[in-house]
Amino acid sequence: MKIKLNENYKNLKESYLFSEVAKRVKAYSAEHPEAKIIRLGIGDVTLPLTASVIEAMHKATDEMGVQATFRGYAPEHGYDFIREAVAKYYLERTGVKLELDEIFVGDGAKSDIANITDLFGDNEIMLADPVYPVYMDSNLMRGRKVTLLPANEANGFLPMPPAEKKEGVIVYLCSPGNPTGAVYSAEQLSEWVKYANETGSLIIFDSAYEAYVSDGSPRSIFEIEGSRTCAIEICSLSKTAGFTGTRCGWTIIPLELEEDGRSLAKMWERRQSTKFNGVPYVVQRAAEAAISEAGRKESAESIAYYMENAKVLASVMREKGISFTGGINSPYIWLKCPGGMGSWEFFDYLLTKFGIVGTPGVGFGAEGEGYFRLTAFGSHEATLEAAERLRKGL
Ligand code: MLT
Repeated sequence: MKIKLNENYKNLKESYLFSEVAKRVKAYSAEHPEAKIIRLGIGDVTLPLTASVIEAMHKATDEMGVQATFRGYAPEHGYDFIREAVAKYYLERTGVKLELDEIFVGDGAKSDIANITDLFGDNEIMLADPVYPVYMDSNLMRGRKVTLLPANEANGFLPMPPAEKKEGVIVYLCSPGNPTGAVYSAEQLSEWVKYANETGSLIIFDSAYEAYVSDGSPRSIFEIEGSRTCAIEICSLSKTAGFTGTRCGWTIIPLELEEDGRSLAKMWERRQSTKFNGVPYVVQRAAEAAISEAGRKESAESIAYYMENAKVLASVMREKGISFTGGINSPYIWLKCPGGMGSWEFFDYLLTKFGIVGTPGVGFGAEGEGYFRLTAFGSHEATLEAAERLRKGL
């Protein structure tokens, strides 16, 4: 072949973090088929879709089998019914008012986070370290310069704007944060919004874990004054309503966001209409049901279930004197590996000694070395069993 390849791919790690974890677990299981492995690694939900969601999916599936109600291509940005449902969800949950033209329904936060990079030129990127790997990888693939802001014990795992005012930077913020579970207060987010507006920068706010906020912290960047001129928000129903396998989320681009007389919302619409064919009708109806009043009540029960698991894991950490964060506004426990172990060393130790899979902190960035993430998305039974194993042997 004589084609030129994207040289930037050489700057990526050999495999995506969760694929690497899965590969190592598979290899271990093949050698130890007797091991009863408990998976608390990737943040994948385990509870089934709720009753309202399933009912809506059944109904929509039936509609697809009848000539009069069959639907072909969906609008790339989502049907009006789901855009209206998202607007209602924001208004009722956060007091944020959105125009329908600002809401773009997609197949989940991961894709939109990666694809939004299509809209931008060669800007500097600012990321927390540790961070959700998609922010880093999708920008490395485009050869962008990435500046890391350490998220550590000293700043409560919540990096704040740097003293140096850099112009035209794209900043990614995730709150409640993946992987650390730390949540920004309204005051802290206001500082970021101020920084972005003063420097002509853009915040990409990942609110995938908003449903886990329990202490009154903001669920949306748009709760913060001034954010409409400097922020895009990307959210997902994966963790809110168990849609990891069903795939639906949305991106909010305020109509005020313009550069050079060009609207970012219009550019995204243009991008999506060329590269995306919309979320399936059945899934959009499921998403509508998930954020309806009944759906929200059901999801709240699932979230309470997972947060019970977080309590179980947190209590083991306390008993063992292991310092950790998260587990309050987040389904993740971010712990310091005991005995000064490195992240992958602790991964091997947990897997081989206890049959427990977690995620090595260093996989989220160099600052995560010596840390480890456990998810509360397992079943109660599995989480209790994991806690018991750790209690006895750690
Ligand atoms: C995680 O474990 O960090 C998430 O499940 C990954 C994702 O949402 O893509």
